[in-house]
Amino acid sequence: MSQPIVSAAAPDKNAATIATIGAYWNDHIHDLEIATEPVGSSGFFRELDEYRFDKLRYLPQVVDFSGYQGKTLLEVGCGAGIDLVRFARGGAIVTGVDLAQVSIDLAKENFTQNGLEADLRVMNGEALTFPDSSFDVVYGHGVLQYTADAPQMVREMHRVLKPGGEAIFMVYNKYSWLNALSKLMKVDLEHEDAPVLKKYSIGEFKAMLRPFAQVRLVPERFPVESRLHHGLKATIYNKVFVKAFNSLPRFLVRPTGWHLMAFATK
Ligand SMILES: C[S@@+](CC[C@H](N)C(=O)[O-])C[C@H]1O[C@@H](n2cnc3c(N)ncnc32)[C@H](O)[C@@H]1O
Repeated sequence: MSQPIVSAAAPDKNAATIATIGAYWNDHIHDLEIATEPVGSSGFFRELDEYRFDKLRYLPQVVDFSGYQGKTLLEVGCGAGIDLVRFARGGAIVTGVDLAQVSIDLAKENFTQNGLEADLRVMNGEALTFPDSSFDVVYGHGVLQYTADAPQMVREMHRVLKPGGEAIFMVYNKYSWLNALSKLMKVDLEHEDAPVLKKYSIGEFKAMLRPFAQVRLVPERFPVESRLHHGLKATIYNKVFVKAFNSLPRFLVRPTGWHLMAFATK
């Protein structure tokens, strides 16, 4: 029997929350606050890329951005397309969706300036309009934790993935050094004011990825100096905490990584 080509999700169920989430992200483009160059300029995208891959220096070590040549790849919650440009540069045939129109406009500009092609659309990742088994790879870095119904987004990304395809996700770790430090120092996490921000234990994240045949979960993102915060607390963090934490044996602190990366297959 043929499968339905459009999700059976009930987008109306979360419509009000999804609209609020979209409105928030239209006004809070991820990492925008570090940019000094005019928004949408080539310098702006370069700054965003440099900042992201300095803060997330683990990311290119665990995600092979050049390893998907000729493969179809969907990113849900693509923001300004910083990661998606890297996948496209590596030869992947890329599609990016995001709830926020501003993100998609910036991602389009980013691709144009890089002379690369992408199918970029405003779309709710909980109700994707792609047929079943459309993509070789699905990627969602920092999106599940901000949506209304994360298990529904997982089901949708699983649905549009081809059998045997690869899925890559990142959510925040409830039991992380960063979560603990932010409470201790009374410093808000980025996007703490977002309409939805959920953190997961390793067990909860694994349970949510149950639709996948195989799942490998790796905690990543350990302290690096912050360019975003200033003042005494930031100086103590940058000059004392970062060094002290990183001198601890990684195998001991690994479970407290702020980013829970998941590599799954369908
Ligand atoms: C923290 S930003 C991450 C952006 C990008 N993935 C990155 O890592 O820089 C979260 C993004 O997810 C998007 N988002 C949240 N819920 C979504 C949904 N239901 N469907 C599509 N995009 C969503 C937001 O609009 C925002 O651009």
